[in-house]
Amino acid sequence: MTTLAAAIRAALLETDPRAKALAARATARDWGAGRLDFVFDVAMPNEPGRPGEPALLPPSQMPKRGRGHSERGRIALWHALAHIEFVAIDLALDMAGRFGAGMGRQFVSDFLSVAADEAMHFELAARKLRTLGSRYGALPAHGGLWDAARETAHDVGARLAVVPMVLEARALDVTPATLERVRASGDENGARILQRILDDEIRHVRFGATHFTAVCERRGESAEILWKRLVERHFRGSVKPPFNDSARSAAGLSRSLYAGVA
Ligand SMILES: [Fe+2]
Ligand SMILES: [Fe+2]
Repeated sequence: MTTLAAAIRAALLETDPRAKALAARATARDWGAGRLDFVFDVAMPNEPGRPGEPALLPPSQMPKRGRGHSERGRIALWHALAHIEFVAIDLALDMAGRFGAGMGRQFVSDFLSVAADEAMHFELAARKLRTLGSRYGALPAHGGLWDAARETAHDVGARLAVVPMVLEARALDVTPATLERVRASGDENGARILQRILDDEIRHVRFGATHFTAVCERRGESAEILWKRLVERHFRGSVKPPFNDSARSAAGLSRSLYAGVA
């Protein structure tokens, strides 16, 4: 029987986007079916496998996306989304593989299900790009999306505080407006994809908040104080309104938590 760590590591190292998405979903399925031993015999790579394209640029050098109604604007939007989802596959795999030994089986189940969702999101965005006559890799992409993983590789508390509870929670704030713009442009199929992503991301944030609370209880710390400290230390951006309070509360993030940091 393959070990859990070996399966996750292999998926992380996969360089081809479609192969990585398939490997993430297969790993989640195999784990759910009891086909992987709960054994952590290999380390996770510091840098996951990346395809030759897209070229990765510092955020400051990314071309401006425009207002999104033109064909070029739509391609840029779906390309950016595909890239975010592609990196999200690795973030979820790394969460399970790097911290699963200490956090337990439920943690692994939760974050492998996130990895499978992100793989599906990536495939939906990549397919959308193909219907627009483009493909993932055709444009440059944001090169900073793995920074949070590097910055928090030493501490599961920091990783949970920053990745699901700041970055994925941010997606809850900004996706509804994108969805409305896409719907207003007449793209009902695109709106449906974004609705599905939004629904799934609420669950991802909830997993993060739940396991973060467990970490705080174990360390005898207040969740609000520890979260604030970890975000200030390990997140370079700012946590800022407008917040999607209803989606955040559905995900288990209380206003008192993030209002204090904003
Ligand atoms: Fe996603
Ligand atoms: Fe997510």
